[in-house]
Amino acid sequence: MPKLTYLGHSAFLIEGSKARLIIDPFLSGNPKAPKKPEDIKVDYVLLSHAHGDHLGDAIAIAKANKATVVAPFELAGYCESKGTLIHPLHIGGGFNFPFGRIKLTIAHHGSVTPDGVYGGSPCGFLVTMDGKTLYHSGDTALFYDMKLIGEMNAIDVALLPIGDNFTMGIPDAAKAAELLSARVAVPMHYDTFDLIKADPNEFVKQAAAKGRKAQVVPVGGTLEY
Ligand code: NI
Ligand code: MN
Repeated sequence: MPKLTYLGHSAFLIEGSKARLIIDPFLSGNPKAPKKPEDIKVDYVLLSHAHGDHLGDAIAIAKANKATVVAPFELAGYCESKGTLIHPLHIGGGFNFPFGRIKLTIAHHGSVTPDGVYGGSPCGFLVTMDGKTLYHSGDTALFYDMKLIGEMNAIDVALLPIGDNFTMGIPDAAKAAELLSARVAVPMHYDTFDLIKADPNEFVKQAAAKGRKAQVVPVGGTLEY
């Protein structure tokens, strides 16, 4: 059974039987992050897009661990130019890694690095390992194709932004939980900054009103799925 640990903002550590992954490791820039980049031991670093609150400490973590960065082609190329191992993918494409499968989904957002390099299309991730499927939507608006993603994948856990302003807010995230039909939805991308303050329990309530289970995983908390 894979285990996720919430590291604040959109950062999650995912530990399966064959690999450890980190998604969007924004740690040293986030005063609420429960771990330092040097504490992270992983095999893969997944990046949904190039914004600083997602790229975060990815390059340092990937180099220190000799981990492979999995990201959209343009962003992967940027990481390679900074000295990391990479596996580029692009929207709609997946790859069977030794530990399981990663597929990129669409996300409606932007993607440019803090130093101004175009990051290609932002993405979400479907990560399947140990027979379980996790969906991390990345930063995105609500989109109706989430229904298609839910029809074609039995999603065990969906990680969804609720902070509004830059991404979905709570009503849209609750609708996303409904469209995806995930076994459980977990809120992310809230409370890190004043602009994205949100009440995660309100998300749980609104998802429940649509017949979907949502669960708040506190920063530093874990969930086996
Ligand atoms: Ni962003
Ligand atoms: Mn963001």
